[in-house]
Amino acid sequence: MLHSNQFGNNFLWGVTIAAAQNEGAYNAYGRGTSIWDQFSKRKGKIKNNAKPYIACDFYHRYKDDLLLVKALGFKVFRFSISWSRILPEGVGKINKEGVLFYHKVIDECLQLNIIPFITLYHWDLPQALENEGGWASHQLIKWFSKFVTICAEEYGDKVKNWIILNEPMGFTSLGYMLGKHAPGKTNMVTFLSAIHNAVLAQAEGGRIIRHYVANATIGTTFSCSEVIANSDKQQDIAAANRMDILLNRLFIEPALGMNYPNADFAFMDKLHLHTKAWKYTERMRFDFDFIGIQNYFPITIKHSSIIPFIQATDIKAKTRKVPYTALGWEINADSFYRIIQKFAAYENVKSIIITENGACFKDELKQGIIDDKDRILYFEKYLNSLLNAKMDGLKVDGYFAWTLMDNFEWNEGYNARFGLIYVDFLTQLRTIKNSGYWWRSFLTN
Ligand code: GAL
Repeated sequence: MLHSNQFGNNFLWGVTIAAAQNEGAYNAYGRGTSIWDQFSKRKGKIKNNAKPYIACDFYHRYKDDLLLVKALGFKVFRFSISWSRILPEGVGKINKEGVLFYHKVIDECLQLNIIPFITLYHWDLPQALENEGGWASHQLIKWFSKFVTICAEEYGDKVKNWIILNEPMGFTSLGYMLGKHAPGKTNMVTFLSAIHNAVLAQAEGGRIIRHYVANATIGTTFSCSEVIANSDKQQDIAAANRMDILLNRLFIEPALGMNYPNADFAFMDKLHLHTKAWKYTERMRFDFDFIGIQNYFPITIKHSSIIPFIQATDIKAKTRKVPYTALGWEINADSFYRIIQKFAAYENVKSIIITENGACFKDELKQGIIDDKDRILYFEKYLNSLLNAKMDGLKVDGYFAWTLMDNFEWNEGYNARFGLIYVDFLTQLRTIKNSGYWWRSFLTN
């Protein structure tokens, strides 16, 4: 039987949530509107037109929820700070009540002997800043720096573990190019600017935390997916390579001081040119203490001449008749090993924490029990690969499960359940799933 002690005593086991997905209390206690509140008003953008207004009501229930973190045996609690709760207009006046809320969450963690990991940005930009151009604006770095400085000064004495951004590829591409996430933009120039500002923000945020917080451990997270070419054909291999640049290399390489990937790829030429990237190698670099990698699935790619720029398309797991989750994401634990290997191979990566991994399944509550066997199997397989990675000497030092409880899953609304705890969104009743109990026995003796 797999047990956490096989990973050594110092391995960090955690569980992750995010402000926009869990907190609720969206227009109370001085909080300003975020881009997700606004985006959810647009018909058809989110399944069932769901709103993030109440979510899991973590704002009022954080004490009970942290007791659940403790009960399941996790040592680390990763959560994010809602920028518009601290600065309702994004800049300017500070909302003291919002500042106090995170003090209370942090104090509660410390009281319970849980290590708080703060994510500074998990996708919920203040709408006031979006109105000024959001991530595509030149002013973003200035705004973000103010926000980070406030957080560092407020919480830096108590919190030593900091994550600057959550998945910059996620929010820049889905939010500014594909229009599927807030703020719902679909514009190439906006996308290029958003990428560059996110790259600069991840490094600048790191420098600010380093300056204000003594003995800080600083990381930032990257989404990643192993990219597999559908065939040996040159065209498919080239398509997979382009996809790999976008999905896996675009944000980490500048952080490591390598600038943006240089490749025979028109999109990258555009990015280099648009951002005058050659001037920024140093400003884009930061010496992170760890990198967070977030992996859910690999993708299989073939050439497609009708898709602009990338000229590649993925072949769904269902079509390929391989196992997949309720969102159609391929389940492939061997690929998890290989993606860790890929990121560990960068010379300047000092340490890796898997800051998110988990699975969505159609959970059914029957007589007070959620027997989510599929999710348990998923974790068993992925953790087995993780153990192999660790045993093989890859520099992986922690793993955080996504997610503590079912929550607002962005454009999927409330129907995509990833939690170890089931949430009835009408009553806010929490029920620990069998996967939650599985984690408890994995983590405790
Ligand atoms: C990540 C994201 C999380 C969560 C998860 C599952 O990309 O950071 O907030 O939604 O995916 O879809």
